Amino acid sequence: MKSIVLKISLILFFLSKTIKGDVLFSSLPRSLFVVASPMEGQVLKASEDDITVTFGLNQTLTNQTDGSYKKAKVKLCYAPVSQVDRKWRKTNDNLKKDKTCQFTIYDKPYERNVEGFKWNIEKDLPTATYFVRSYVYNDADEAIAYGQTTNDKKTDNLFKIQGISGRHVSVDIASVCFSVFALLSLVGFFFIEKRQSKVKS
Ligand SMILES: *[C@@H]1O[C@H](CO)[C@@H](O)[C@H](O)[C@H]1NC(C)=O
Ligand SMILES: *[C@@H]1O[C@H](CO)[C@@H](O)[C@H](O)[C@H]1NC(C)=O
Repeated sequence: MKSIVLKISLILFFLSKTIKGDVLFSSLPRSLFVVASPMEGQVLKASEDDITVTFGLNQTLTNQTDGSYKKAKVKLCYAPVSQVDRKWRKTNDNLKKDKTCQFTIYDKPYERNVEGFKWNIEKDLPTATYFVRSYVYNDADEAIAYGQTTNDKKTDNLFKIQGISGRHVSVDIASVCFSVFALLSLVGFFFIEKRQSKVKS
């Protein structure tokens, strides 16, 4: 009996620990605004194009106070269409387990308003559909508010990034097609040539 009680209290202890340290995205207020340069549906190229973001406290929400905001991050996040069948990009309400926003483009102490921060899209970004989200963190480095460029369902104002590897693959396919075409025409010419020389002789 004692050992069962001990086990149960141990389990409860660990449960409460994980629950306490974990921040749920659904619990965060949308107190920030984020505006990013890509237009809806635009296709940007990794390692060539830039993204410019302006973000900060949404001051039309007059009851928001940013006294506890210590740090701000801006991240690129996968839109649902690019998460389908990809466990490694899956959204989890528990921010520690969430894999929606894997690319940090800004990470600095909090300022109420950051105007026109420019980021060159890194060359290792995978081809996908994205949106931009920002988080602010408290002293304990826990996310306490967010903002994003899309709606709550993450369906509007999305843009695409074309990764470098994607581009190379299509170039390779094009060159293979071209080689096959060249070979076929060569063979074709060879037979026409042969036939013609036969007709002549
Ligand atoms: C600020 O918040 C209000 C109320 O939620 C919202 O209507 C508005 O679009 C937000 N502003 C920006 C720039 O996101
Ligand atoms: C702040 O105001 C918004 C819009 O008026 C409201 O939805 C929200 O619940 C308020 N937040 C607090 C903490 O009072």
